Amino acid sequence: MSRPVNGVAVRVPAKVNVQLAVGAARPDGFHDLANVFLAVGLYDEVTVAPADELRITCTGPGADQVPLDRTNLAARAALALAGRRGIAADVHIHIDKDIPVAGGMAGGSADGAGALLACDALWGTGATRAELLEICAELGSDVPFSLVGGAALGTGRGERLTPLDVGGTFHWVFAVADGGLSTPAVYREFDRLTPVAPAPEAAPALLAALCTGDATALSTALANDLQPAALSLRPSLADTLAAGTAAGALAGLVSGSGPTTAFLAKDAESAASIADALLASGTCRTARVAGSPAPGARVVDRA
Ligand code: C5P
Repeated sequence: MSRPVNGVAVRVPAKVNVQLAVGAARPDGFHDLANVFLAVGLYDEVTVAPADELRITCTGPGADQVPLDRTNLAARAALALAGRRGIAADVHIHIDKDIPVAGGMAGGSADGAGALLACDALWGTGATRAELLEICAELGSDVPFSLVGGAALGTGRGERLTPLDVGGTFHWVFAVADGGLSTPAVYREFDRLTPVAPAPEAAPALLAALCTGDATALSTALANDLQPAALSLRPSLADTLAAGTAAGALAGLVSGSGPTTAFLAKDAESAASIADALLASGTCRTARVAGSPAPGARVVDRA
């Protein structure tokens, strides 16, 4: 189960959606989005090493819920790159998880982007940034952002990225719930609750708050159109949101499709005390503190 030696290790961040504007369902079943991604400093580490055949191992919190077969985005990333080069994806992929599993923080997408970058380095396949981004977009809507990191506006189904400027550090607390929420189920609930969805647009005030690094301004602009759907499927998340704001958070929202909730704090000290209060409230399984923005996937070790 341990991390392979003689391999390449990549560190890849989680994300929070500071705005997730969701439009109507498209004929292909996806929804058009204006998705403002912010990478946060919680990381999975993906290590790849030569092996007789493709296999995946995983350690860390929630590792038992991570699929170890070819449905794992890390395996799909290795297969996609190997397929393009006509080589075998004979690689041992080890995922050391720290991003909450099925939590709405793009942990699976992070592992896909991480494995892709790691295999490219291991195999010397020399993929361009554009090709890596193209493969990421084939793997899933959030995967390109995991590669890029920082902050970006995602349009289309979220895969078409425009980098955004961030003028300071934002301090977050993430309240991790028991169990996950299925992203397709949350989108289905969104469709049920929203018979007519307007065209999604990024809010100028939110982009300005990111650009100036103004946490108070960002807190008033945070918005997630999937939040009512996530709360409908998991009503107890309202208690977590109430506990975080009572503990002094500038604002709280459901992260992506949930069930993780994200709280913006005014500084690092406040974030630590909000995390303590959330844990004591008994409304979440664990609470994590992280800063943003964080860099995208990058090679940390070529052992
Ligand atoms: O792209 P990804 O595989 O991450 O999407 C998972 C699911 O989330 C999709 O199958 C779809 O149900 C939903 N989704 C959506 N619209 C998007 C992104 C995801 O409906 N823009």
